[in-house]
Amino acid sequence: MIVSELHALGAAALTAGDGLPDPRREARWLLACALGRPEAWLLAHAEEPVAQPVEVLFRAWLARRAAGEPAHYIVGSCPFWGRPFAVTPAVLIPRPETELIVECALIVPKPDRPRVLDVGTGSGCLAVTLALELSGSVVTATDVSPEAISVARRNAQALGARVRFSAGDLAAHVRGQFDLVAANLPYVPEREIPGLSVEIRVHEPHLALDGGEDGADLLRSFVGDLPRLLAPGGHALLEMGPRQRAGLQAAIAASGLAEVHRGLDHAGIERVLVLRASERATNAS
Ligand SMILES: C[S@@+](CC[C@H](N)C(=O)[O-])C[C@H]1O[C@@H](n2cnc3c(N)ncnc32)[C@H](O)[C@@H]1O
Repeated sequence: MIVSELHALGAAALTAGDGLPDPRREARWLLACALGRPEAWLLAHAEEPVAQPVEVLFRAWLARRAAGEPAHYIVGSCPFWGRPFAVTPAVLIPRPETELIVECALIVPKPDRPRVLDVGTGSGCLAVTLALELSGSVVTATDVSPEAISVARRNAQALGARVRFSAGDLAAHVRGQFDLVAANLPYVPEREIPGLSVEIRVHEPHLALDGGEDGADLLRSFVGDLPRLLAPGGHALLEMGPRQRAGLQAAIAASGLAEVHRGLDHAGIERVLVLRASERATNAS
């Protein structure tokens, strides 16, 4: 078959599936990945014959996608801040809104060689991106899931980023202080998980989603540890959902940190909370 025929076949297969919002676009992206070409190549080579093994692979991918498996797990990769990150079902698929943490990290004041900590690193998208974008930075990343750590380590190696990884519960095992602390911890309220789409609920790791009763359980614990982790004048960049801010109020007040910014995502939702430690030295443990 030629490119345009396979594209049309793919779009039809995905339309018949579980009502994806843009089957033609998804089919084009999957076909481009199967061919190892950019999507634009398909448009310019609509009449090109497709090799049999590529067609077989594409048809297998279509069947999985039509059954609800996320396209990025099928292909095994997802772009973040313009770089390809390997993803497996052990890690959350990086979301575009998480790039807001990178934007904030680039603009907050920090020393020339900032010490950076990423907690709940998953695929390593934040740790690796910050290591590559902040020259001279020294980056540490943790996750409670050893499987996630091995995916993140693989991404750091593939993209040439130097990151120190360790597994553990939040940052309890982490020593030292940091100029930047980034965290995209799970923040879906427990009772909302059954209502999530099949793609998320069935295929993405529960560990990456469940934020407890109001979605803010882990964030609250983590905010309590920030005074220990932040160097004087250091910043914490925390991703959250639209309804988690209220549940963090008391923890933020008790931490003594100043709330200096709320970053809005493209939908206008408050997505990143920026907290700053005072310039006075704190007691590092
Ligand atoms: C929402 S995902 C974010 C992953 C990645 N940072 C990103 O932005 O795509 C949350 C991550 O936190 C990790 N996690 C969950 N509970 C944790 C805990 N108690 N301590 C450390 N990491 C945890 C999960 O394994 C998951 O990788």
